[in-house]
Amino acid sequence: MRIHVRSGRRAGGDDAVMGTPGDKSIAHRWLILAATATGPSRLAHLPPSLDVRSTASCLSRVTVKARPALDLWASNASSWVEGGGSTWNETSREGPREPSTRPLEVEGEGRATLVESRTDLDCGNSGTSMRLLAGLLSSAPFSCRLVGDTSLSARPMERVAEPLRRMGARIDTTEGHPPLLVSGGSLHGIEHLLEVPTAQVKGALLLAGIAADGETLVTEPVATRDHTERALAALGAPVRREGTTVGVTRFQHEGFDGSVPGDVSSAAFLIGAAALGGRALSIEGVGLNPSRTRYLDVLTRMGVRTETVITDEQLGEPVGRIELRAEAELHGTTIDEGELPLVIDEVPLLAVLAAHAEGETWFLGAHELRLKETDRLTRIAEGIRSLGGHAAAEADDLVIAGGGLRGGVASSGGDHRLAMAFAVAGVGAEGVCEVRGVEAAEVSFPGFVEALREAGASVEVVE
Ligand code: S3P
Repeated sequence: MRIHVRSGRRAGGDDAVMGTPGDKSIAHRWLILAATATGPSRLAHLPPSLDVRSTASCLSRVTVKARPALDLWASNASSWVEGGGSTWNETSREGPREPSTRPLEVEGEGRATLVESRTDLDCGNSGTSMRLLAGLLSSAPFSCRLVGDTSLSARPMERVAEPLRRMGARIDTTEGHPPLLVSGGSLHGIEHLLEVPTAQVKGALLLAGIAADGETLVTEPVATRDHTERALAALGAPVRREGTTVGVTRFQHEGFDGSVPGDVSSAAFLIGAAALGGRALSIEGVGLNPSRTRYLDVLTRMGVRTETVITDEQLGEPVGRIELRAEAELHGTTIDEGELPLVIDEVPLLAVLAAHAEGETWFLGAHELRLKETDRLTRIAEGIRSLGGHAAAEADDLVIAGGGLRGGVASSGGDHRLAMAFAVAGVGAEGVCEVRGVEAAEVSFPGFVEALREAGASVEVVE
């Protein structure tokens, strides 16, 4: 699908009050925990995003009582159309899919009752599904094969396979990449230093650790999102946090109820669009976990002021409101290696805002961006250049020269966050920005195009 985005600077107008679909990162973890709990769980506000459906679908293959509900939710196929390696909802041309208000009820029977799947577990485009499930299945007394789409099949898996092997599982990668063959068994705790700051590996080891003998300790010199440890602690697991180390020991949790907070990474795109359009915006019911909201500090440095108010807590996750004031004069900033993991998913959005700012913006030590759904370091720079700006990927750094965008044509390359970032870029551009492959946004933000309009952008669906 192609869209045309036109500059939408406007004074006055109604301020939008919006929400975002449930948080993808949190939803993966809560689904895994619900499927392996003892007893029923009720999960509300699960996002119908493709990545989360992949996790639900894989879990349905290795569970018995939980299977029908997970399978139905994952496949809810009527409005989903396969095509070209990605899947998207035709109705998003007209407007967002009605969010399901009914919570998903999952009947867990405990971690020890997982069953062998008759088919491969297809993680689709989702690295989080594959890495977290590898951790979960490392303790299961059977083998299973985890596969993914072309993009996922090129992503590194030794980072999760190596420590899981040390815990006692057999994990075969395909020259370091998917498919993964996981042959689980009895595990023992290890100490692991995360050389690459990655919450997916930390999460996988903690999920393995609650099914292992002894303590599993994960040390992260650079902080990453902490959704796994928060959920485990809220469920009563013996989670020990000391400095940069988190430890767990064997634990079987019971069923639980939770409403998934709105995705704060999706909110970033709406905030970016509203800021470029000169609009005020309030986003409600959104996750405000400090390990995810660091981009708001970066935005403040760039001249976009927001306020947050915590109104609720769900399974250890703070939830609340982000308010953006209208009027922003953007200026450049530097995001260094220590800050980068905390804004990893917002780099594409911050980069397009930087293209509209005064002065240069630097993202330093951003090698991990090369290993995402696409080589984001290269593709962000290319996309900004093709929209009439100046940007370069130099070794592991990304530099964006500000000064505005003239307009042009950019392609998502099948990467959801690039699709959304280039669409937002158009809001502040002189001429029209055409974005190709926008359907990729469904991977994390179902209904993105309509939400972008609600945030004040002028968007035309071309085909
Ligand atoms: C995620 C962690 C991050 C992030 C991804 C989701 C998670 O990846 O980019 O979108 O849910 O744990 P890394 O852990 O590889 O940095």
